[in-house]
Amino acid sequence: MTRMQQWIGIAALALGIGLVTAQAAKPAAGHKLYTAKCAGCHGSSGGGVSFMGPKTNLLTPAAKKKTNAQIAAIIRKGASPMPAYNSLSPAQIRALVAYVRALQHK
Ligand code: HEC
Repeated sequence: MTRMQQWIGIAALALGIGLVTAQAAKPAAGHKLYTAKCAGCHGSSGGGVSFMGPKTNLLTPAAKKKTNAQIAAIIRKGASPMPAYNSLSPAQIRALVAYVRALQHK
């Protein structure tokens, strides 16, 4: 193996590790955002909270049937009395959708 080939190998390995950590960071970011912004009304496991009513249960068949795009739109626009989270970045909204899907085991 030439020195050049060794460097390419090391660079590829470093890139691979970078990609794996970037992917692993996503659910963690979603978890943090969900705990801070959503769990108060939807419960930490997504099952809803009784004082906010049954519609806060995110684990119902109807909620599971929604597409990722529909959930992203609800987060962005809100659903009275749920506030609109239109100042979140697209990446933050994707992380939240991924976290809701994980809670739904979808
Ligand atoms: C102030 C309480 C409150 C907060 C905070 C809140 N929600 Fe909601 N959310 C609700 C209520 C109430 C509904 C049902 C609205 C309706 O009547 O359709 C709802 C509906 C939803 C739905 C649709 C559920 C379904 O059955 O289709 C999703 C998805 C959702 N919220 C996700 C989130 C996420 C993600 C966050 C955090 C960014 C969040 N919500 C923050 C109260 C809240």
